[in-house]
Amino acid sequence: MVAETPSKLVEAVVAILQKILSEIVPKNPVVIGLSGGSMVQVLTDAFPKIETFDWSRAKFIFCDERIVPLDDSDSNFGAFKKNLIPAMAGKIAENQFLTIDPSLNPVDCAKDYEKRLLESSNVGSALPILDILLLGLGPDGHTCSLFPGHQLLKESSVSVAPIENSPKPPAERITLTIPAVNSAENVVFVTTGASKSAVIKEILTDTNSQLPGALVKPTSGSLFWIVDKAAVSEMDMENIQKMEL
Ligand code: 6PG
Repeated sequence: MVAETPSKLVEAVVAILQKILSEIVPKNPVVIGLSGGSMVQVLTDAFPKIETFDWSRAKFIFCDERIVPLDDSDSNFGAFKKNLIPAMAGKIAENQFLTIDPSLNPVDCAKDYEKRLLESSNVGSALPILDILLLGLGPDGHTCSLFPGHQLLKESSVSVAPIENSPKPPAERITLTIPAVNSAENVVFVTTGASKSAVIKEILTDTNSQLPGALVKPTSGSLFWIVDKAAVSEMDMENIQKMEL
């Protein structure tokens, strides 16, 4: 879906989430993976408009998280606590978020998060089956904290991995791995801005692309793209229409 304006982008996020949430068979919890960066504001604007879902059923996990104290301005949880939770007052509470233990070193932090993630979601062949993943995309094609050319792209033995040299600061993070992302039932990319236009073109048109965003291919789930016009400015209209973006 290509949105003409920021408010149309929020409407598109609302529409897709409403559709996905209405199709999820009654289950508790509904596990929703969150990304940081610009996603925080988009979801803070979108969630209050979704009135048909009982948000107490949601469990929020982090597609990636920076290993900093939870009240640090770099913490993804901290950003959702500051913005989304007040916007959803009475509907979403802090204890619905699966936060990292930032006192641990990256290796232990990832192991601990994976253990608690597996305990709180459906598990299929040792991978968590997440209901919805909301992914951002960096101008270099990274998603979660999976960066181009990084050895973590090949990680297939765990669903949550540590990274100690993230090119996007802060350096120490944990991230879902590609197999965990691809086990999700629904993956929704929300991406805006001309700085992403070259990588979006590559990801959507080059089937051999090895960019992290291009490796997101849900095994049996669905993949959705919500972008703005600037983000697809390098693609020709014919391609955009063919892909039913
Ligand atoms: C993070 C993210 C990261 C983000 C992209 C896009 O915590 O750093 O989860 O993967 O989604 O960098 O960020 P923007 O949407 O802000 O460009």
